[in-house]
Amino acid sequence: MDQTLIFLGIESSCDDTAAAVVRADDGGAQILSNVVAGQTELHAAFGGVVPEIAARAHAEKLDICVEQALDQAGVTLKDLDAIAVTAGPGLIGGVMSGVMCAKGLAVGAGLPLIGVNHLAGHALTPRLTDALPFPYLMLLASGGHCQFLIAKGPEDFVRLGGTIDDAPGEAFDKTAKLLALPQPGGPSVESEAKSGNPQAFALPRPLMDRPGCDMSFSGLKTALLRARDQVIEQHGGLPRAIRADLCASFQAAVADVLSKKSRRAFAEYMALSPAQPAFAVAGGVAANQAIRAALETVSAEFNAAFLAPPLRLCTDNAAMIAWAGIERYRNGGRDGMDLIARPRWPLDQTAPALLGSGKKGAKA
Ligand code: KG4
Ligand code: ZN
Repeated sequence: MDQTLIFLGIESSCDDTAAAVVRADDGGAQILSNVVAGQTELHAAFGGVVPEIAARAHAEKLDICVEQALDQAGVTLKDLDAIAVTAGPGLIGGVMSGVMCAKGLAVGAGLPLIGVNHLAGHALTPRLTDALPFPYLMLLASGGHCQFLIAKGPEDFVRLGGTIDDAPGEAFDKTAKLLALPQPGGPSVESEAKSGNPQAFALPRPLMDRPGCDMSFSGLKTALLRARDQVIEQHGGLPRAIRADLCASFQAAVADVLSKKSRRAFAEYMALSPAQPAFAVAGGVAANQAIRAALETVSAEFNAAFLAPPLRLCTDNAAMIAWAGIERYRNGGRDGMDLIARPRWPLDQTAPALLGSGKKGAKA
């Protein structure tokens, strides 16, 4: 590999419209621009992402984001080597908007088109930021995803397990709603939890006895609802200090589930005898300090490096799509005008399908 590649990446699979330019050569990769236009306010009144609203907003914003990404990178379409676009999994209207935009640009500029799996974008990010060698262990934990993967190659992933219902970020968001805390729930529950006692409430750790790495977070939220109602009945309201205890207990339960399942995932990963063992996390939930500390501890038990890319690259963005496109291109991957948008697209085609389909769409 001796070629410099400059890729435009386009992402529109959920509620962020994003475009980015990434340049890569033998020496590594550089993010030349990374534009993300969120839609939080458009969906705020509905308690979740409304697919039709999301698709329309993507269609309106994609051109603007692409133009900004090219401008900020100081390049024009002529300087690009290819266009990479999220072709799934995600909310189909949004994915279609991105794929159509990318096809138009590719035809217009005579550039190759590379369809990228959104989850591969997340999973390959530690190679963009830290040139991490394969194989590494990965936990994706966000509002829409939750899975353990072994990344073996640019298009070679083994899924060890994932949530069978809610994603952990979704559980944080629902918990915040139950406790009348602001959205997004993760940061507000974390901040309340700081003054709470994590042992105050014995909340369940679902699927702990089941072998493997599958997880479940919806029962936890139901248990929290019951605990909250009991407190309200006893106290005639929800005292602030007890609310903090509920947050701390909930957060401890999520951290516990993720770290116990990480140990199981490690056991499978270490069986591959990786030369440089590494555990990388991505997704908004990885921003949680208590969860991050718990995962870092597990990583240290296995003498593995622990990597958490900066938050703007952990959450949905197009730099990861441009980079995954570069990895796929180097691996010989190309697509034509028959590239389709896919609502479901498991990274590991051999793993059994996950059941959940949360508020942010299919978890693939
Ligand atoms: O990766 P992300 O930005 O987007 C998608 O899910 O697509 O993740 C957002 C999720 C939200 O559910 C949010 O509540 C959660 O990540 N989150 C957190 C924290 N910050 C964000 N969860 C726990 N602790 C946090 N500090
Ligand atoms: Zn994502």
